[in-house]
Amino acid sequence: MVKKLEADKTLSDSELADLLETDIYDSSLFEAADRVRRSIYGTDVYIRGLIEFTNYCKNNCYYCGIRGKNNKLNRYRLSHDDILSCCKTGYELGFRTFVLQGGEDDHYKEEIIYKIVSGIKTNYPDCAVTLSIGEKTYKNYKAYFEAGADRYLLRHETADDEHYKKLHPENMSLENRKECLHNLKEIGYQVGSGFMVGSPFQKTEHLIKDIRFLQELEPEMIGIGPYITHKDTPFKNEKSGSLELTLRLLAVLRLMFPYVLLPATTALGTITPDGRELGLKAGANVVMPNLSPVNVRKQYSLYDNKICTGEEAAECRACLGRRVNSAGYQIVVSRGDVKK
Ligand code: 5AD
Ligand code: FES
Repeated sequence: MVKKLEADKTLSDSELADLLETDIYDSSLFEAADRVRRSIYGTDVYIRGLIEFTNYCKNNCYYCGIRGKNNKLNRYRLSHDDILSCCKTGYELGFRTFVLQGGEDDHYKEEIIYKIVSGIKTNYPDCAVTLSIGEKTYKNYKAYFEAGADRYLLRHETADDEHYKKLHPENMSLENRKECLHNLKEIGYQVGSGFMVGSPFQKTEHLIKDIRFLQELEPEMIGIGPYITHKDTPFKNEKSGSLELTLRLLAVLRLMFPYVLLPATTALGTITPDGRELGLKAGANVVMPNLSPVNVRKQYSLYDNKICTGEEAAECRACLGRRVNSAGYQIVVSRGDVKK
């Protein structure tokens, strides 16, 4: 089945289900994924400096620790100057992509995001700017793009309508999520989508729908990581997702989308100490260390026990360099655009 997947870049639904549901460890899946990744990206690993610039959020996704109704959280916002100063530190550490991520926070009106993005692009013209700030209007997306934003991350979270409704309150819909993704593509962004592995109520059939949706969307980036319980959310009693299934999905995605940018996520490093290293060996080729100021990091708590919340940017960069090397790859100083 692995051979077939590598050759055809797809499988039938029932073959995919078998591959995802097996309990048997099959190294050939990971070997094939690593072979494909090496044939395109060699042993290079791209880094993205993640700047979590606001933990205010007007939404209330049931799984997420920064949901608006979580009143146990201290809220913060970074100013234009704070953000530029994170970029300065990041640039010196070799980052050539900055990812501005935040909750859906209406404090940052279109003009403010416009100014932040164009400020970064003016100071660091050789860098890519990625936005990850949720569902906005076509007009907003267009304005950010004109300001110079290159990429946009918006995970679809689950491609099954019923499942989507179990993870989100009524005012959110998969339909709108998909429309945002199509708008972003149309405007010309390099788009990243993705989903959580092992989110509450998730079944294999949902994962297959996620994969089919990604085949339709053809994103440049796919972000997946295990769902991890957060103690102050409605899902506080739900189980976290598994390392094994996340790794298997990473490998399957590498084989289906040979050129895609695939991060070994912080969530993966949180459920297992060497989770990101294992992710790289399973086909991932991107890591996204934190560039946010240390004094706010703990407050960007999407899930419990998030790693790297105590380290300065330079420490995190150095630690990650060692970890990537230990897995047999190396970090490169580059914007890290998708190949092809
Ligand atoms: N566990 C794992 N991932 C989460 N995210 C949000 N909450 C959690 C959680 N509890 C992910 C979502 C979102 C991304 C920024 O973080 O998929 O798109
Ligand atoms: Fe952040 Fe190790 S990667 S401290």
